[in-house]
Amino acid sequence: MPNDNTPMPSRRAFAGLLTASAGLAALTACTPKDGVPSPAAASMPAQGDVTSAAPASSSPAATATPSATTEPTIAATPAPAPSSTIKPQHSLTDPTSPWVIVNKHRPLNPQDFVPADLVQPAIRLAVSGEAALLNSTTAAAAEKMFGAAASEGVIMTLASGYRSYTTQVSTYNGYVASTGQAAADRASARPGHSEHQTGWSFDIGDGGGACSFQPCFAEQPAAIWAKANAHKFGFVVRYPWMFHDTTGYFYESWHLRYIGVDAAVDMATRGITTLEEYFGLEAAPDYL
Ligand code: DAL
Ligand code: ZN
Repeated sequence: MPNDNTPMPSRRAFAGLLTASAGLAALTACTPKDGVPSPAAASMPAQGDVTSAAPASSSPAATATPSATTEPTIAATPAPAPSSTIKPQHSLTDPTSPWVIVNKHRPLNPQDFVPADLVQPAIRLAVSGEAALLNSTTAAAAEKMFGAAASEGVIMTLASGYRSYTTQVSTYNGYVASTGQAAADRASARPGHSEHQTGWSFDIGDGGGACSFQPCFAEQPAAIWAKANAHKFGFVVRYPWMFHDTTGYFYESWHLRYIGVDAAVDMATRGITTLEEYFGLEAAPDYL
């Protein structure tokens, strides 16, 4: 449900919501998990088949060092410009930048990008292999966030982290096989279009194990806590409720994206819920 900071959705968004709700209901019945292949999807590999494309290393923490600084374009309406206190200090196109925007209009470049600093965070893992990896900056932030949640009695798990291009091929094809392409495109990114490939994103599970990758996850303690607190650690819930016309995906209360504390707090303070709006980029409901 939208929180108090969520902008009022447009009438078009409400119409989309009805479609989304129907789609979610249908999808959930046989939804292959995001990043966790469903046993029901014959074309999807078993979890153990998803091997790490890059070894877990303990390379030095790499602060994002974007090779190019791209000033966000300011949308005319309705998205406010980023706070003037937040300079456009990171690239929106470089996949090593914490502000890289990957969506249906903005594929990864290069398509087969692999983060150079993948590490396994010291947090509770619900997966192994490459799915247990994050880039080093995101891993450090996740460790802080999981620790803070635990100190308040909320246990989070890492349900799906890094995904290579090759893994995304299997994941996306599994969704298509299970649900058809139209539904798949509202739940899973096509290869080369997933934030999971950047190392800046991951999916959380709840310590109690309920509702992973399902709409009812939004009511689990981990999701409720993350929605209220993730920004303090630099994360946003990347695919918010009712913004599929902007993001291209149904609500994923489990999918967090690191953008840095300043920007995440700025977004939360100003009630901006999508990166497309925050950076003044066009909505990306469908592939071009
Ligand atoms: N489920 C998100 C959109 C992904 O596949 O990256
Ligand atoms: Zn995800």
